[in-house]
Amino acid sequence: MNQLKKNNYKTFPILLLSWYDLNRRILPWRAMPGEASNPYFVYLSEIMLQQTVVKTVIPYFLKFVRKWPDINALAKAELYEINSYWAGLGYYSRAKNLHETAKIISNKYDGLFPKDKNLLITLPGIGEYTSSAIMAIAFDRKSNVIDGNVERVFSRFYAVDKPVEKSKIFIKKIAEKHLPENRHGDYAQALMDLGSLICIPKSPRCKICPLLAICDVGGTTRAKKYPIKLPKKEKEERYGLFFYLQNKDGAVLFETNKSSGLLANMDVLPSIGWYEDSNRFKKFPEFNQKKPNFLGMKWKMLDQNLNHIFTHFKLNCSVAIAKINDENASINDLSKSSYRFVQKKNINDLALPSLIKKILNALKNNETLDF
Ligand code: ADE
Repeated sequence: MNQLKKNNYKTFPILLLSWYDLNRRILPWRAMPGEASNPYFVYLSEIMLQQTVVKTVIPYFLKFVRKWPDINALAKAELYEINSYWAGLGYYSRAKNLHETAKIISNKYDGLFPKDKNLLITLPGIGEYTSSAIMAIAFDRKSNVIDGNVERVFSRFYAVDKPVEKSKIFIKKIAEKHLPENRHGDYAQALMDLGSLICIPKSPRCKICPLLAICDVGGTTRAKKYPIKLPKKEKEERYGLFFYLQNKDGAVLFETNKSSGLLANMDVLPSIGWYEDSNRFKKFPEFNQKKPNFLGMKWKMLDQNLNHIFTHFKLNCSVAIAKINDENASINDLSKSSYRFVQKKNINDLALPSLIKKILNALKNNETLDF
């Protein structure tokens, strides 16, 4: 890595903020120049943006603030309703934390977000990044806001010779040195915009970058090589068998997940497995059968398989279907409290994760479902 140049500490924010004044993105949670930020909008957007890209978040954010225009309204909502508005955004524990934090802000802080990072960070779902972002963007406080975009910008700017996963502390330290003495909210958002519009992951647009003249790799073929990548790990494959059970009225059996873990609190089709290949046949012989047994019923295994990508694994989904008729009308295991039949017209009101939407869509086009 080249020597850090002290001049950069001042030049970097000046160039970045001038660029931002002309090129800032207009986003529904972002205050226009001269306007005050809305801390609720900043908080909600930052939670949504934690694991999800801006383009996906925008319609969700708009739907949320139309339904719950301020933190007190959100605090009064029912969790199942928040979950159904969150459905499709993934990482569902975020919705539960959102509700918990809204209740605390509404009840303990009179509906006002504390302007104190040490207090913000105690709230459910608010960690180092989100508390820093709220301090800078909502309250214009000097704050070192580091996300993946910012790490990429500094990794290139100083040609950091280790992957970001191994240089987080170093990058945080150098980022701190470049913070300006004013316009803290604009600066944090300018860095995010630079990372999203110019210093993008695959082919950085160095020619139009405001930092080109002072960047260590800008405009050279080296820019694409940074940040240095860790060797790629293969995604683990898992296998799940999903059960689609229709009763005599045409209603479909759903189950609500528990409040922790993957797809927490979401409404799903009952399933088994989700194990790696080598385990699944031993533990769940149903996978191997044309007519698996589950809930004391005989099922028909569909030929069609589909898959869904989660962050840490790929889930290969098989689907089995059954219909309750007179011969198998008494199904003892259905007394499990998290099971319930839902009329087809009400299915869209459930908190359905994308995976289940995908399966239901595939089933819609499957003629076998007419039994
Ligand atoms: N990514 C995370 N937070 C963001 C924000 N406030 N604006 C744009 N992109 C972001």
